[in-house]
Amino acid sequence: MKKISLTGIKPTGILHIGNYFGAIKPALELTKEYDARYFIADYHALNTVKDPVELTAHIRQVAAGWLASGLDPEKVIFYRQSSIPETFELTTFLMAFTAKGLMNRAHAYKAAVQENAEKGDDPDAGINMGLFTYPVLMAADILLFDSDVVPVGQDQSQHVEMAQDIAQAVNFNYKAELLRVPEVSIRENVAVVPGLDGRKMSKSYGNAIPLFAPEKELRKLIMRIVTNSQGVEEPKEPESSQVYLLYKLFATAEEQAALANRYRAGGMGWGEAKEELFRVANRELTPLRQRFEELLANPAGLDTILAQGAEKARPIAARTVNRLRKAAGLG
Ligand code: TRP
Repeated sequence: MKKISLTGIKPTGILHIGNYFGAIKPALELTKEYDARYFIADYHALNTVKDPVELTAHIRQVAAGWLASGLDPEKVIFYRQSSIPETFELTTFLMAFTAKGLMNRAHAYKAAVQENAEKGDDPDAGINMGLFTYPVLMAADILLFDSDVVPVGQDQSQHVEMAQDIAQAVNFNYKAELLRVPEVSIRENVAVVPGLDGRKMSKSYGNAIPLFAPEKELRKLIMRIVTNSQGVEEPKEPESSQVYLLYKLFATAEEQAALANRYRAGGMGWGEAKEELFRVANRELTPLRQRFEELLANPAGLDTILAQGAEKARPIAARTVNRLRKAAGLG
């Protein structure tokens, strides 16, 4: 039996290159070795996205994004979190085993409280229970499907550790391995993708390159990447330039070595370095962009793919919930 890999993407905005290299690609790589269950965490998105039209659009874009990037729904169980009601029963179950103090320590919640303190606001201002209990819902996503590994970015590793703690608390109480304790999987070399300003690429920093940006926009954004003031003739250190770090993500090993030599030799300006980056980025992204547009043009087709995935997922989810109900005396 193959081990199980599971991850979720929150449909709160459009996918960017950081999502692609940090989340989508490593997760798709794992599908060669693992039975994969990948889903759209739409109830997690509801914490912040309150406009229904926007939420539906984000869900479809994320679904089309994964499929365009190569997710094969015949091989991967691909579904929407909201199509699996067992998730919400398991969440309630896990609440009884989750220390409130554990939630107080969650990074996202702590950051929100801290921000309120800095503004002199009430500590709870703008914080809903969805944010506070976010890690419990995420633990339910993970534990429902007997996940062995959870490929995520560094920022999510604390949540996976909380899922481990919660699973262990359940298993300890019933003296049985009712829930599989998952491991976190972080690809160190690709986990951080630099954004236009050199900080980690992130929607919230406004420094992201959208994964499916039309060719013209892609080029324009690449030309906007911040560089130092070294002139054309000066030798440049490739590894300290985000233009080169992004280039590495798209280029072959030979291309990387060749361009690094040109940086170090001097005589190549930032404009040319950026043209090279655009060339390799556009080469990889053009076919993805085309598939993405085709998929989005047929929303009913997307909904069918997700509904079929949910049909495969639900019996697995039901088994987990039934196992727990029985063990707990709720049977
Ligand atoms: N919290 C994750 C994020 O923001 C999304 C997510 C929800 C998730 N449930 C999950 C990731 C379960 C992995 C496993 O990126």
